Amino acid sequence: MISIAISSQKGGVGKTTLSINLAHAFARAGLSTLLVDADPQGSVGLSLTRQSRLLSGFYDFLADPAIPMERLIVPTRLETFSLVAAGQASDYEAGNGSSGSHLARVRAFLRNVSARRYDICLIDTAAGLFGVTNDVIASADALILPQQAEPLGIRSVPKLLEGLNRLRIINPRLNVLGVCLTMLQQGLAVSTEAASTLRQLLPEEMLFQTAIPRDEIYIRASAKGLPVGVLEDGGGAETVFDSLRAEVQAKLGKSRHQAHIQPD
Ligand SMILES: Nc1ncnc2c1ncn2[C@@H]1O[C@H](COP(=O)(O)OP(=O)(O)OP(=O)(O)O)[C@@H](O)[C@H]1O
Ligand SMILES: [Mg+2]
Repeated sequence: MISIAISSQKGGVGKTTLSINLAHAFARAGLSTLLVDADPQGSVGLSLTRQSRLLSGFYDFLADPAIPMERLIVPTRLETFSLVAAGQASDYEAGNGSSGSHLARVRAFLRNVSARRYDICLIDTAAGLFGVTNDVIASADALILPQQAEPLGIRSVPKLLEGLNRLRIINPRLNVLGVCLTMLQQGLAVSTEAASTLRQLLPEEMLFQTAIPRDEIYIRASAKGLPVGVLEDGGGAETVFDSLRAEVQAKLGKSRHQAHIQPD
């Protein structure tokens, strides 16, 4: 199993949207996929509406690792696609009452998932590279960094690279798959300029060729916590995530030749 964290320094860059849709793309490609909501704000399980508030999830495991995995894993209509919601303990665990690092428990969680023979475990994290997000990145095999195609976001990239170097020390085997541009607006100069600035800032292999366009359909789908492909008119919008999925798989294939993340 390969575990992939989806993280960013900044909030609202499209992590959850990317996580849900990329996980769905993996599942549609026939890989047994688990999507884990490690954001205490928990939006992945939103589509399960009333039920999702009652679900035990990732943070319940961190609070009590004796909880059986069967209680955490929620199947979906797609046989290859399952979810783990953030869970009920998320407020306590992520907030002030937290008792420091959850590294050992995050690792235990991933071992349990791996034992259930998933091919891919995608983990949507809260913004910022600290706290539980830090523990997730320190435990995952790989990392994808969504980055909004707008000037303010791009300005945070050098800081992001700094943060990454720190994480690499904690997790030397972390495969940083790269930065994925999100909410790209082709017709809008500030957006395309931000994209080209990012191309200059990053080594080529650190930027996914696939960029997620800005489109209201992603807002509609993520308001329901659903992958776009599930919407009646979502068939076209999901293909970009098939490209991203193919790129991720290609990068994982040559993961031993790890790319350097220092900007030149
Ligand atoms: N490609 C897109 N086109 C248009 N809107 C988008 C796109 N991706 C995400 N959004 C919208 O932008 C907002 C933020 O997206 P999302 O929740 O995925 O970001 P996030 O990084 O997970 O945020 P947070 O840091 O709060 O967890 C949401 O309202 C979402 O619907
Ligand atoms: Mg999110």
